[in-house]
Amino acid sequence: MMQKSGLFEKYDVAGPRYTSYPPVPFWRDMPTPEVWLKNISEDSALSERERVGVGVYVHIPFCESLCFYCGCNNFITHDRDKSTEYVSVVLKELEMYRSQAFRRQPLSIQCLHLGGGTPTYLKPEDLDRLVSTILSNFKMTPDFEFSVEVDPRRTTIDHLKVLRSRGCNRLSLGVQDFAETVQKKINRVQPFNDVRAFVEAARGVGFVEINFDLIYGLPLQTEETVRDTFEKVVSLRPGRIAFYSYAHVPSMRPAQAKLEADLPSSSEKRKLFELGRALLLDAGYVEIGMDHFALPTDTLAKSADQKSLHRNFMGYTNQKNIPLIGLGVSAISESREFYMQNEKDLAKYMQVVSAGHLPLMRGHQISRADHEIKDIILGLLTKYEHTFVGDLQLKIFDESDRQIKDLVSDGLITCDKKSVVVTTLGRAFIRNICMVFDPKLKESQATQFSKTV
Ligand SMILES: C[S@@+](CC[C@H](N)C(=O)[O-])C[C@H]1O[C@@H](n2cnc3c(N)ncnc32)[C@H](O)[C@@H]1O
Ligand code: SF4
Repeated sequence: MMQKSGLFEKYDVAGPRYTSYPPVPFWRDMPTPEVWLKNISEDSALSERERVGVGVYVHIPFCESLCFYCGCNNFITHDRDKSTEYVSVVLKELEMYRSQAFRRQPLSIQCLHLGGGTPTYLKPEDLDRLVSTILSNFKMTPDFEFSVEVDPRRTTIDHLKVLRSRGCNRLSLGVQDFAETVQKKINRVQPFNDVRAFVEAARGVGFVEINFDLIYGLPLQTEETVRDTFEKVVSLRPGRIAFYSYAHVPSMRPAQAKLEADLPSSSEKRKLFELGRALLLDAGYVEIGMDHFALPTDTLAKSADQKSLHRNFMGYTNQKNIPLIGLGVSAISESREFYMQNEKDLAKYMQVVSAGHLPLMRGHQISRADHEIKDIILGLLTKYEHTFVGDLQLKIFDESDRQIKDLVSDGLITCDKKSVVVTTLGRAFIRNICMVFDPKLKESQATQFSKTV
């Protein structure tokens, strides 16, 4: 069997993160707005009959300063009036869905997620108006989950109180790394003491569910800085930790070029992940999927244990919310039959919605074949195993025979007739394993994706 370091070199290629199947660059066949609204209408009626609520995602693009590594759709500004106007436009977009697609009213909502950019860039009163108006259009299911991405540098106690009073039960904190050298280099200085004080304040206001986002592969990160960062992270005991692989795509994010000279090599980057992973497992966390860890008592860890995890644009979830309605600039929606993305340019988004139209930019009709492949790839990403059923899946399995043998001989999967199981070693290469079963990728160059390792 090949040495681990050799494997990292062999599998260090560009590839998708599979938050959708097919991934965005392969989307074709965008539906018309009429077809899209009809589909949302049918899907939400079905959800109502099945007594699961819809999911709503709202994208708030604003940030006060640019973190140089950032790959999110953001808009840097100090003009808070812009965000006041933005909230009104997002609510107008919601109203279009309510009046044109929601048959039964109020519909049930099972999950609300505010992402960004920085949702707490909004003034507390705008945040309150946004959330209270959204929720007044729905009735909440008993297991309703409301989560928000918060930048500890830009979130005040008033923001926390507003969120808590509106039923928010999960905060995801952007932490990234605690080393001062790294923080300066990435233009995001937030000392540990500030983050600790923030976590204590959030817990004081009543937040129990706290996630941390960390990244490996940032410039100037070393095994020593990762060890120190994780000691600090673990001392605060967040329930979930996302430990993301730094996605370096300077052709799309020019500010990332500033980091290039100080980035770790692929093998160093992988060592940083292995170290962080070992420290988390030592501290009692369990690995629940690609880049994600949780305390065993956490609901996501329990879902992983019961093999009932899901994955969508927001990452791993324990609820399958279809339709998932994305509001705001660049937001992505998902129905049973389609994916749809909103206009990515802020000015254009504002203009189109203000003129009374849905800001749809691109979409994809999920074909039968896509559904079958999605089933394989999501099975591997959420359960680390898949049994191939049906003609199409079996054909994909047969056509991947040579690469499957390669994965088996590298010790990344075991294969029993028509099923594959990812080994512990293989978990680090899960994106590469998924890629073997992705016929669309085999036909393309995959250059638009970040590296898998
Ligand atoms: C959508 S961002 C919003 C978070 C919030 N604005 C903040 O900074 O705290 C969510 C997370 O994505 C991760 N992220 C952003 N850019 C990334 C990149 N290039 N590679 C990997 N992860 C990235 C960061 O961990 C970040 O906290
Ligand atoms: S990481 Fe968060 S705060 Fe930094 S630029 Fe990206 S979205 Fe804005």
